Amino acid sequence: MSPLEISDLITAVDPATGRRLPVRRAEVVERLRAHGDRRAARIVAELPADQDGVLDGVAVDRLLISVHTELQRLSEELRIGERLVHLLRPLFTAIRASGVPGPYRLVDIGCGLGYLVRWLAATGALAPDVELLGVDLDAALVGEAGRLARDEELRCRFVHGDALALPEAATVYVSTGVLHHFPEPALTDFFAAQGASPALAFCHYDIAATGLAPIGAWMFHRARMRHPLGRHDGVASARRAHSDETLLRTAAASGMRPLLYEPRRVANPFCTTLRPVLGLRPHLEAPLRQALGRSSRRLLGPEQLAQAAP
Ligand SMILES: C[S@@+](CC[C@H](N)C(=O)[O-])C[C@H]1O[C@@H](n2cnc3c(N)ncnc32)[C@H](O)[C@@H]1O
Repeated sequence: MSPLEISDLITAVDPATGRRLPVRRAEVVERLRAHGDRRAARIVAELPADQDGVLDGVAVDRLLISVHTELQRLSEELRIGERLVHLLRPLFTAIRASGVPGPYRLVDIGCGLGYLVRWLAATGALAPDVELLGVDLDAALVGEAGRLARDEELRCRFVHGDALALPEAATVYVSTGVLHHFPEPALTDFFAAQGASPALAFCHYDIAATGLAPIGAWMFHRARMRHPLGRHDGVASARRAHSDETLLRTAAASGMRPLLYEPRRVANPFCTTLRPVLGLRPHLEAPLRQALGRSSRRLLGPEQLAQAAP
């Protein structure tokens, strides 16, 4: 049974309006107990609730902002910005070479506190013809992302809502640490929605499903995270990570060309922590491979993955 993450259960949003819905503490505790996760149930039982047993929204927001602030260190230590740019720069080179005129829009789905978008804006790692937009369903997290960007006077924007229902089209969708939150049918829908949009490509980074991932996650979260919720969800994330095969299969539902960069079979499991699944409009594969140069050998489609040595 795939573990549950507490952070997915203690907030709820009306998908149509984006408004927060009440969450009953006892129902979350019962769900976690029924799932066999008594530790998570104990963590939730200690969160503040009102006299009707509804979780205190302000306290939950504060807690999630603090856990995500600690989580930023993981993004820093894993150099998530540099990793993304290693693929995004050649990808935008390929898009420009294919004759699609700019400006372009990069949309970070589930941006949380917006670390990635703020890092891209602060470093100027992508050319100025790429607009940077972070989107999250969680109003408190994305509100804090916007506040930090204003404080830092960065050229990027943050929007509260469903990134896949924006009035403004994305050229490229990206995400970090989001895919494992979706069970396989929802992951298929997630990719299909991007394929049905005018976007030219997606590039989603998530935890590599290696045997070492839960141990690595335990060590990092033990050392770096203070709140038991962060420690719990960090390890649960690693245990929920999707396999390379699942990622390629579900990404294919987009109708785009599915590719994995540094999949398990061609990478050292001690070095592989986060790795991306890509979807490309087919005409972009050749120019992307050309722009990637030697690194292109690490970009594999389903047929190449099947041939790669186990
Ligand atoms: C674990 S957080 C990841 C945060 C951030 N990317 C990071 O690396 O710290 C996952 C986030 O995805 C958001 N999310 C999931 N589906 C979304 C969608 N369709 N549109 C916008 N946000 C979404 C959730 O609200 C949640 O805040």
